[in-house]
Parts: sequence; structure tokens; C-alpha cells
Amino acid sequence: MKTCNGNSGIMDMFEKGKVLKICAPMVRYSKLAFRSLVRKYDCDICFTPMIVAADFIRSVKARDSEFTTNERDRPLIVQFAAHDAQTLTDAACVVAPFSDGVDLNCGCPQRWAMSAGYGACLINKPELVKDMVRHVRNQVENPDYTTSIKIRIHKDLRRTVDLCQKAESAGVSWITVHGRTAEERHQAVHYDAIKTIKDSISVPVIANGDIKYLRDVESTHQLTGVDGVMAARGLLTNPAMFAGYEDTPLECIWDWVDIAIEQGTPFTCFHHHLIYMLERFVGSLTRDDVAMDGCGPLSLCGDWSPCPPLYTIHLCQEVAEYFPAEDLGLHEKVLVQSFYHDDHNTYRSLPRCCP
Ligand SMILES: Cc1cc2nc3c(=O)[nH]c(=O)nc-3n(C[C@H](O)[C@H](O)[C@H](O)COP(=O)(O)O)c2cc1C
Repeated sequence: MKTCNGNSGIMDMFEKGKVLKICAPMVRYSKLAFRSLVRKYDCDICFTPMIVAADFIRSVKARDSEFTTNERDRPLIVQFAAHDAQTLTDAACVVAPFSDGVDLNCGCPQRWAMSAGYGACLINKPELVKDMVRHVRNQVENPDYTTSIKIRIHKDLRRTVDLCQKAESAGVSWITVHGRTAEERHQAVHYDAIKTIKDSISVPVIANGDIKYLRDVESTHQLTGVDGVMAARGLLTNPAMFAGYEDTPLECIWDWVDIAIEQGTPFTCFHHHLIYMLERFVGSLTRDDVAMDGCGPLSLCGDWSPCPPLYTIHLCQEVAEYFPAEDLGLHEKVLVQSFYHDDHNTYRSLPRCCP
């Protein structure tokens, strides 16, 4: 089976019996540039961030800003927030030529989403989920196009099993289970619940929650028998995690710089990812505290100078010490990378240098 751009179909990938490694949907983060990065490091499938289907259908502006892809960005699953079958189906039909499947968010616990009828409140509406899945399956023309759901679990697991079986009867292609209830945040993942779900349905199941290292992929598979795993925060802090790196390798940081420059990634997105990748060294203090003028904690590891528009990554001494100097091809253990930021919101790279 081949999709229109020559990639194997997603269901074919499941049939090969390998435990698939998937980049989670992440609002503001799992955009094209980051997807390009994790694909370089053994990620099998990527999700877009959640997109509100109704906005996507209504507004060209929303479509342009929320969904960007290219021919190398496959296999790709587009995740939508929706609460009615026709809106989800209309959105799926728009993205179907550029993606391999559509996913319904049934796990977002945020108050705004729940009160709008999106996200985790859908796990309490199995008939509606069934209706939405069936609609998309019936109306998207490509038979290889997948329709999946991403859920959280109930306290009473029988309700989750019932939801999954109903979705399966409606033709759901696969199900991702974040092994926490909608109320849980940092509690331990309920792998036993994921296993129960896997044992109760025939379609592929993906386990999500706390995958931080490659070894977690295998241990989760052993514990639950799932067909794949999905990671969010583990990939933010180490986009090379699926390739077996314990910490973000320097090569991956430079790959990010190169991809961001090539794709014209906006400053905040570029910078937030960089800070995530360096979090172990610089602490989480700086991520939410971006100082566009180069003041504040940001100057520990980066400077933003609007005039001339120059961004400098100045890896602080602790970071530089972590990377052997010979790996850097440098004599000093301090790195500087500078970019001009031109009128078109695009970076122009300056040569890497050592001060
Ligand atoms: C920054 C961020 C954005 C997220 N956005 C989404 C989203 O758009 N859709 C979704 O289903 N889950 C979203 N999530 C939840 C993750 O997909 C995942 O279910 C959760 O973080 C647990 O996985 P982890 O332990 O690997 O982080 C987001 C998580 C993070 C950290």
C-alpha cells in the first residue's frame, strides 16, 4: 500500500510489528520545524498541534497559520479539536491530501477546551465519538487515510474500555491512550489500564505518558503489549531521544538551528525549543521569561539585540563543558552562534565562531 506521495500507509507500518515511535501533538510546539528535527532522529510518525476544526474551516487565516507542511513531512497526523461530526469531517477533507490521517483530541483537560465541549470531556460521550469517527471514515475518499482518537482514561476503566470498543465498532484506525485521568497531572502513568485497553480491542494501541528515554519504549511495550509509544515532553527536552541519545546531543542543537533558519521559524518558537533542549543545563527559569532585549535570565544563554537585529546563542560555560571541545572542532569550550533577523522574520546565519 502506498500513499499518494509514495510513503507507506500508517496501517502498513503497524503490521510490520515494530513498536512505532511517535511525536505527540503539542500546541505551539509540534510544528513543521520541530517535526523535521525529530524525524531526523528516528521518529516514525508525527502529529501536528491540536487545531480547532471549526476555526480551521471558517478562516483562511487560521488555515494558513495553523497548518504548514512540506513533502518530506510524512507520515503526518493532523489533530483536531471538534465536537460535531460534520465539522471534523470537513476539516479532515481539507487536510487529507497533505497528510496520512486525522486524530480527534479526546484528552485535553484544559478548562477552556472542556467548557467548549472539546478534549477530555469527549471521553464521557462515547456515542458522539463514535458518530464523529464513522463520519470521517465514510467521507474521506482515500481508504488508507486513518482516523484515530487520543484519549485519557476514566477512574472506572470499564467506561474507557466501552469508549474504545465503540470507537472500534465505528471504524477507528488506532487509539492513543494517555494513561492518566483528566484530573491527573504528574501522577504515575497507569500502565495496567493501558494494557487492559490493549487486551480489549483489536485495533493498534499507542501508549503515552512519561516516555523519556529509548529504553522506556521497550519497557512500556513489555508492560502493556502496545503497538507504539508517543512522547511529548521527553522529545521537547531531547528531540534525539528516539535515536537512543540520553541527552540532547550538540549535533541535534545545530540541526535545530539549521532547520529553523531554513524554514524561517519565528523567534519565540525557535527560542522556546532551544531553551527546552538546554533545560538540563540552564534550568527551566528562562523558558517562560523570554527577554527580547537581551536583559534578564535569558542573557545567561542567549541575547536578543533588536538593533542591529541579531540573535546570539551563547552556550554558557556549564553547557560548553558538557560537550567535549574536540567534538565542537574548537579550541575553547564556549560557543557562539549568531543570526541576523531580517525584515521578513527570517534568520540569516553568521559563521559559528569561538570568542
Ligand atoms: C507543550 C505541550 C502541548 C500539548 N499539546 C497537546 C495537543 O495539542 N494535543 C494533545 O492531544 N495533547 C497535547 N499535549 C499532551 C501531550 O500530547 C501528552 O499527552 C502529554 O504531555 C503526556 O505525554 P508526555 O509524558 O510524553 O509529555 C501537550 C503537552 C505539552 C507538554
